[in-house]
Amino acid sequence: MDPLAISDAPSGTKRRADGALEAPKPAQRIRALDPDVVNKIAAGEIIISPVHALKELLENSVDAGATRVEILVKDGGLRTLQVTDNGSGIQKDDLEMLCMRHTTSKISTFEDLSSLATYGFRGEALASISHIAQVLVRTRTEDDHLYAWRVKYQDGKLVPGPGGGDFTGPRAVPGPIGTQIRVEHMFYNVPIRQKACRSHAEEFRKIVDMAGRYAVHCEGVGFSCKKAHEVEEYVPVDCDHTVPERIRHIYGSNVSKELIELSVSARRWVSSAKGYFTSSNYHTSKTTLLLFINHRCVESSTMKKALERTYTSFLPKGGRPFIYLSLEIDPARVDVNIHPTKREVQFLNEGEVIQAICNQIESQLAAVDASRTFLAQLSGAKPVEPLDEDAGNAAPKFTTPALRKVRRNSNELVRTDKSQGKITAMFTPAGPAGKGDSPAGPVDKGDSSAGPAGKGDSPAGPAGKGDSSAGALEDEPYAVPQDTTYTTRTHEPAQINYTSIRELRKEVDDDINEELTKMIASHTFVGVLDETRRIVAIQVGVKLYLVDYGSFCCEFFYQRGLKDFGNFGVINLEPPPDLTEIIEAGIQMLIPPIEHRQIKRYFDWCTETVKGVLVRRREMLKEYFNLEITPDGKLVSIPLLIKEYSPTVRKLGVFLCHLGRVEWSEEKTCFQMILKELAMLYIPEPLPTSLTGKWAKSFSWSDGSSVTSGERSSPFDPEDDDDDDDCWDFTTPMSWEFGPSSDAGVEGPDHEKAQSPTWFRRSAESEGSDAGDGGQVMTEEEFCKLTRIRRQNVRYALEYILFPAFKKRLTATNQLMEKSVKEVADLKKVYKEFQRC
Ligand SMILES: Nc1ncnc2c1ncn2[C@@H]1O[C@H](COP(=O)(O)OP(=O)(O)OP(=O)(O)O)[C@@H](O)[C@H]1O
Ligand SMILES: [Mg+2]
Repeated sequence: MDPLAISDAPSGTKRRADGALEAPKPAQRIRALDPDVVNKIAAGEIIISPVHALKELLENSVDAGATRVEILVKDGGLRTLQVTDNGSGIQKDDLEMLCMRHTTSKISTFEDLSSLATYGFRGEALASISHIAQVLVRTRTEDDHLYAWRVKYQDGKLVPGPGGGDFTGPRAVPGPIGTQIRVEHMFYNVPIRQKACRSHAEEFRKIVDMAGRYAVHCEGVGFSCKKAHEVEEYVPVDCDHTVPERIRHIYGSNVSKELIELSVSARRWVSSAKGYFTSSNYHTSKTTLLLFINHRCVESSTMKKALERTYTSFLPKGGRPFIYLSLEIDPARVDVNIHPTKREVQFLNEGEVIQAICNQIESQLAAVDASRTFLAQLSGAKPVEPLDEDAGNAAPKFTTPALRKVRRNSNELVRTDKSQGKITAMFTPAGPAGKGDSPAGPVDKGDSSAGPAGKGDSPAGPAGKGDSSAGALEDEPYAVPQDTTYTTRTHEPAQINYTSIRELRKEVDDDINEELTKMIASHTFVGVLDETRRIVAIQVGVKLYLVDYGSFCCEFFYQRGLKDFGNFGVINLEPPPDLTEIIEAGIQMLIPPIEHRQIKRYFDWCTETVKGVLVRRREMLKEYFNLEITPDGKLVSIPLLIKEYSPTVRKLGVFLCHLGRVEWSEEKTCFQMILKELAMLYIPEPLPTSLTGKWAKSFSWSDGSSVTSGERSSPFDPEDDDDDDDCWDFTTPMSWEFGPSSDAGVEGPDHEKAQSPTWFRRSAESEGSDAGDGGQVMTEEEFCKLTRIRRQNVRYALEYILFPAFKKRLTATNQLMEKSVKEVADLKKVYKEFQRC
């Protein structure tokens, strides 16, 4: 058949390969496509491979104001792609529509597009991802006090999450402020797309390349990118790194040491042009161009060719540069809406802009050309070949020596992600091993006792063990803390400049132990080993340490108290309890009641004395500590030392009793004693080991719950046990609360002596007595249940609130180094032992 012959067939009719016409068909009816088909087609335009999903997730994190973005990848992102940020989080009420198409918080009218200040605007990314993968979201805003929400999506809709039965709504889980989005089994329903993806290694390389670009550009945001179950960091960037530092960490020092900063003054068409480009001392075989227009990572082959042309007169034949460019152009002159993946943008005066940039680079290159050292050529180093054949731009990890996989000896490998398995899973916990008390095991579904008291059928609950997927969403059971409402104070903070406080602060500064402070700042939390002896395991580098968290908490809260002196937050107690009642409970915890008229009178006298002291000192306590007491003896408020954590009410009685012994006449001692007592109040309560015996004196508390008291000593100092009668030494905080039972120095009911500490000590005879007479004795089962809840609360606080806070703010002291930290394993030494064997 003559190919040029004009066919008689109606236009638009399909031809067979041999050119024969198909039999004419009746006209087909036009139908609206099923929304599911539409969604899948649309998703296919936006998410072509895992790297496109990553780009969307990164942009969302940056839009949410994150300063830290962590990427975790399994099987090139096809199995798991997880992005965790510390941004604003997503409101619980918005979760239902999070993955619906065209739902966004970023624009509301079409006109908003011309003044866009965010990456996102279409409300399509997450919807698209949810149509080709399963999406798990954990998010928490500042308003979600203490816990995060977890949801799962498929095809744009909420579906039951792991271990969630039929329940599709948000489930409360522990988690920091921010959002974690985990995309799993990408393209599980589009096999053709899955096959089209390159090897896992290739997909991972593209992911690292994309993460590297954003990490260079997004100043103020720290990045990390890892493969699941590996410790190697591919994009190791901290939030305070400068752009050249970022380039060095990602692309290596070969690139960074040859960087020249672009200096272009603002022009009519471009409000700002920043960037770095390599001098003629550096070249490789493919151009790496990191181009951002209005902070959007874009590609421009025109720009790339023009830049390569500019470099031809400076580099050897075939040599190519590294260039990072960030242009800001009036949004009204840029059209971002021309490509489904937003990879391309169109802007007015493109030619003019490119020319100006090239001219500037050319003149700066010429200026430094005189100092050209030919270092690369002289040293005989081969230019590093990028492996990414078609992208042209090198993926950082694989293009520079700095990012080449550094082989590490296995005795140097360290775990840096605390979510990768828990040491606690290997321990039998201290404490009662009663029925159902299995802290490391799963908690029964629907067991409301695992949630906060009184939460009833709240969705709050521990992460189910059925959640087989890795990462922070999978965890041991914790009790989700109670919801708390915070209000922000409007008045200006008080300026306190007392000599006494300055001196106390200086004492802390003088005792600083730099080494331990650094260790704590870089530790990885391993797990709580023993809530009775208050021991936590942490990892620092290749070493494992046991830490006495009681002492750490005491020091930390004492330092917080000193820092915020006069400006504490407030925990309001509603309705205000009666001081008498609390103090009585405190005395009972310290000295179990004995049914004897004389002693009863003595207890009453103690209660009245402490109450009298506190009521008399109430103005000072209110002014400096926000501890408010009414003239008729009601406790209105206590100080709040850090947000999201409040002391257990069980310790309040002992705290007030100990306040009664403060030396009020000397300013510095007085402030110090109160701050130390406050710090001790804030130490998480120790858990009892058994229902009976000297560790468990039960008392009833006015809210109906039972409390226990017991004694303990430093976990690392068994010699110190119960005989240390210096319970006023604040530097050994562990011994005060369940202090020695010596009755040495017990004072009589003399008003002046009432401030002496010793009259709260339990007499030697009383030690070992059974549950307090006046108390209500629990059954074994109740005891186990209560202990389990308390253990979960303590664990949650330690892992998610206290140790992260130590990391940021604790100035560790020599005292802590000496008494409260023990190295228990050094991987290198362990290896040596093995080798000997
Ligand atoms: N990491 C995150 N932190 C806080 N909010 C987020 C995060 N990711 C998504 N969101 C919220 O979910 C909404 C939908 O996100 P999605 O990426 O689907 O759309 P978008 O960012 O608004 O637009 P685009 O489709 O152009 O990316 C966002 O508008 C934002 O409010
Ligand atoms: Mg988005």
